[in-house]
Amino acid sequence: MASRRKFLQSSAAGLAGLATAPLAAAALPPASPSVVKPIVISTWDAGVNANKGAWKVLGSGGYALDAVETGVMVTEAEQGCCVGLGGNPDRDGYVTLDACIMDEKFNCGGVAGLERIKHPISVARRVMERTPHVLIVGEGAQQFAVAQGFSLEPQHLSPDAKKAYEQWLKTSQYKPVVNIENSKSRSTGPVGGPQNHDTIAMLALDAQGRLSGSCTTSGMAFKMRGRVGDSPLIGSGLFVDPAVGAAAATGQGEDVVRIAGAHTVVELMRQGRTPQQACKEAIERIAAIKGAKAKDIQVAFIALDKNGRTGSYALQTGFNYAVSTTDTPRLLDSEFLLK
Ligand code: GLY
Repeated sequence: MASRRKFLQSSAAGLAGLATAPLAAAALPPASPSVVKPIVISTWDAGVNANKGAWKVLGSGGYALDAVETGVMVTEAEQGCCVGLGGNPDRDGYVTLDACIMDEKFNCGGVAGLERIKHPISVARRVMERTPHVLIVGEGAQQFAVAQGFSLEPQHLSPDAKKAYEQWLKTSQYKPVVNIENSKSRSTGPVGGPQNHDTIAMLALDAQGRLSGSCTTSGMAFKMRGRVGDSPLIGSGLFVDPAVGAAAATGQGEDVVRIAGAHTVVELMRQGRTPQQACKEAIERIAAIKGAKAKDIQVAFIALDKNGRTGSYALQTGFNYAVSTTDTPRLLDSEFLLK
């Protein structure tokens, strides 16, 4: 009798659950995280001006792909130490530029070792949109650019790059200066000393929820002629997956390529990490590979997921990045691993 009463009670509870659960669910709105958009994130303090350029597109409802091209063109035109034609040369005295771009449909394009062209990011976009290829290098990239109507700029070094190169020639030793990309450390750093690299990388989510990314650099200063870093390589310097998010890298390219950095960050987000956790885990992977040598380099990642959540993590202190959700960018110091 007792067991029959128990059965009836539990059956009634079960039926009540069955009866009420669908009603309760139907009464609730579908769970959907609020999406922050439009939003743009980019590397280093150069990202402040670059984001302002990107915001002119995003703020008026424009396409993320146009925003990430327009944004980094600002940095290319500023001609600092590490991006565009004002960048430091390779060890033979030539400025060679690397760039890539990717949209929300897995379309992508890049150029590497491109000389005498002011806006490699725009050539990368033409590779994406007007060729069946994803990467064109060296002389072929320049021929393609000229055929597409880009002007061939004079072959010369900027005054700062010339000074740095002449100084470097005295020893011809490659000794990276960590965080040289940050204009604060650039201005207080060793004038004419060995300059490292780096890169502006930008990720954007537009008002329609479309993700895109871009990446452009003059690469590692005084590199071997023909050296290519991570920045023009889809999956290393940049990766975009509309189902998950986007990521980009800055810093010592060889160590980003070693772990297919940007793709790794996106895959970690796919597995459930936040953008911040994903960047951190990728940096920890590089640190584990490098061991004691990790302290001699800088690498950093930025990430943006499809809901507009951002993340950033660096190997060491000094990396900053800019985030915009309005026309006023915020410059933020990144968290870092080596304390
Ligand atoms: N991250 C830029 C380079 O290593 O060339």
